[in-house]
Amino acid sequence: MSEEINVYFDFALELVKTAGNLILEFRNGCSHFEQKSSDIDLVTEVDKNVEKTLIDGLSKKFATHKFIGEESVADGAKCILTDDPTWIIDPVDGTLNFIHGYPQSCISVGLTINKEAVLGIIYNPILNLLYTAKKGQGAFLNSKQITVSKTKALDKALISFEAGTSRDEERKRVMFENFKLLVEKCHGVRTIGSAAMNMANVALGGSDAYFEFGIHAWDIAAGDIIVREAGGVCIDPSGGPFDILSRRVLCASSAELAQELATTLNQFYPERD
Ligand code: IPD
Ligand code: CA
Repeated sequence: MSEEINVYFDFALELVKTAGNLILEFRNGCSHFEQKSSDIDLVTEVDKNVEKTLIDGLSKKFATHKFIGEESVADGAKCILTDDPTWIIDPVDGTLNFIHGYPQSCISVGLTINKEAVLGIIYNPILNLLYTAKKGQGAFLNSKQITVSKTKALDKALISFEAGTSRDEERKRVMFENFKLLVEKCHGVRTIGSAAMNMANVALGGSDAYFEFGIHAWDIAAGDIIVREAGGVCIDPSGGPFDILSRRVLCASSAELAQELATTLNQFYPERD
């Protein structure tokens, strides 16, 4: 199995690096965009071209593999996860950042087999940050092994979260409640506008936990395995097992911190992917 995963990984990595050049052409921002589910859920031609480059390349090489791609789903493709090898792709995670020229956006590619992530690639070409992981082989930033922080308690933790890309009233209410709670309870809070970059930061040990209600499978598939291979945990924000299609995620440097955060948070349950 690990030989097979190496083959999938090597091929995907070259494609991701090539597609990264499409992002680099607009590293200072991209003024043309369209709206999707809300006025802050946006897409550019670059998102579409990156996704096409990846899916065309991967499907030619691995004809039986399945795909869940953010922009394909936006265009009507079904978001179905089976036991088959499935590439879960966010062509530009942090599209709003990308549009503004805020340098926290990346390509996020995960491969699941039997519904479990076996490899993950998060590539921010603007800052030249390449996070990778393969099942059982550790997590890496630019080829150097990374590990999560040793933080176990919320009052010592730096916590990342996001305002998200929907203006749903109830979701915003829960988000503001949690923001207030965390500002009072933990060391500090951060929001950078990309789920994948947030998860990469937890894997790196830079932040201690990240949670969000309302993300999608493509935002978190690669981050899930990168955090776990760096020694962290990925769970449902209520404390139960991670469910990639639930649109809910909590990852942390330790199970203790994850559970403490889970019991502290107000919960929101979006419609599933
Ligand atoms: C979004 C980003 C953002 C998060 C949203 C995601 P996109 O992804 O990861 O940080 O808050 O929930 O949808 O739309 O830029 O690919
Ligand atoms: Ca995206």
